Amino acid sequence: MKELVFDHSYAVPFVRPGELELLEPQAAAAHRQLHDKTGAGSSFLGWLDLPERYDRAELARLKEAAQRIQDQCEALIVIGIGGSYLGARAAISALSHSFSDLLSRDARRAPQVFFAGHAISDKYLHDLIELVAEKDLALNVISKSGTTTEQAIAFRILRELMEKKYGAEGARERIYVTTDASKGALRKMVQSEGYTSFVIPDDVGGRYSVLTPVGLLPMAAAGIDVDALLEGAAAACSWFGRPELKDNGAYQYAALRSIFQRKGKNIEILVNYEPSLFYFSEWWKQLFGESEGKDQKGIFPASVNFTTDLHSMGQFMQDGARSIFATTVWVDRSPVEVVVPHDPKDEDGCEYLAGKSLSCINAKAFQGTVLAHTDGGVPNLVVNVPELNPFYFGALIYFFEKACAMSGYLQGVNPFDQPGVELYKRNMYALLGRPGFEEERKALEQRLK
Ligand code: PA5
Repeated sequence: MKELVFDHSYAVPFVRPGELELLEPQAAAAHRQLHDKTGAGSSFLGWLDLPERYDRAELARLKEAAQRIQDQCEALIVIGIGGSYLGARAAISALSHSFSDLLSRDARRAPQVFFAGHAISDKYLHDLIELVAEKDLALNVISKSGTTTEQAIAFRILRELMEKKYGAEGARERIYVTTDASKGALRKMVQSEGYTSFVIPDDVGGRYSVLTPVGLLPMAAAGIDVDALLEGAAAACSWFGRPELKDNGAYQYAALRSIFQRKGKNIEILVNYEPSLFYFSEWWKQLFGESEGKDQKGIFPASVNFTTDLHSMGQFMQDGARSIFATTVWVDRSPVEVVVPHDPKDEDGCEYLAGKSLSCINAKAFQGTVLAHTDGGVPNLVVNVPELNPFYFGALIYFFEKACAMSGYLQGVNPFDQPGVELYKRNMYALLGRPGFEEERKALEQRLK
């Protein structure tokens, strides 16, 4: 079994010999804090060994629910925001046909999957409702707190649609809720309405929850092999559970981020060369942004999609302000091959590429870009994924979760809280006139005049 390999050989010109090793004691201390659960945020470390100890009976119940969703509907709407939707969206777009929602139901062998509750937009929800109006539907509403406004509004609107379409009883059979075991409005609704429900463990925070029912139910409903995905994550628990920095690629990645940041590189750009990884980068941005961006510290996580963005952001990366480093998620093997055909007329000047697959050309674009960036003063790190299948996708998720926890501890922040997210919510509640926020409302309205 090939491991997921972290490769920092291209970054050698930016790291003095022995510089990485200097961080061995800090990494060893952070490893102990994580595994002994003695560090900041230690009550949110349930994700650390979850793939290895996943409750098999609960997984079987989840797969039964996914099968029921597949039998019940043509379109599944997943309602959630942040950590309650990005992981599932990343997995479904990475592991499904690139045009999955446009395929026939027979070719897709699973419902179409749409997302809602991740924005506040009349247009988006109106257009989604128009699109699915005539289809058989199911909803999976996901929220750890059970009180998030974006999710709650979308659920209220879509629940009304479901009840009009199927009646209260019919709707109940098509609504699946993933939330806290006992707290929050969604849990109360499960108790009063009798919806099928799944639990987000107490000790797993939103952005670390993709390998719980939060991610697994929509993935399974979309036809993804969640057993293989959990196996890959479990393998990664052991690969990236090694205590020593020299043996642990996730820790080396975290340590090198810290080295680059101390050298003034405070923007990290996650790069992919595969369009289906677009949402993986969105998931990664939330993971690192919310985990590390606090106490006036952190590396700003950005992303680009190559080679597409080489024709837009490539100029900046090569030649702009030198405050960036790049990390590429490189997939070694494509599941299919498309080859450039021969054309003896060669009017397009591409005959030298005839007979080559697009993966082979993409690999040269990647190598050429990394070398150009290196010459331009941009350190490049690489995470090598043998192939984009459920096993390695699970491993990739775990690699970054583990690296993010280590990176937060090396930065001296609690990677498991998000105090900064609350302020906008309080202001929004006050401005919308939520009971209990009257004083704040007056003060804010003064400032808006
Ligand atoms: O990582 C986090 O905790 C957050 O980004 C949450 O995932 C996001 O705010 C959604 O919260 P909830 O699942 O409570 O609706």
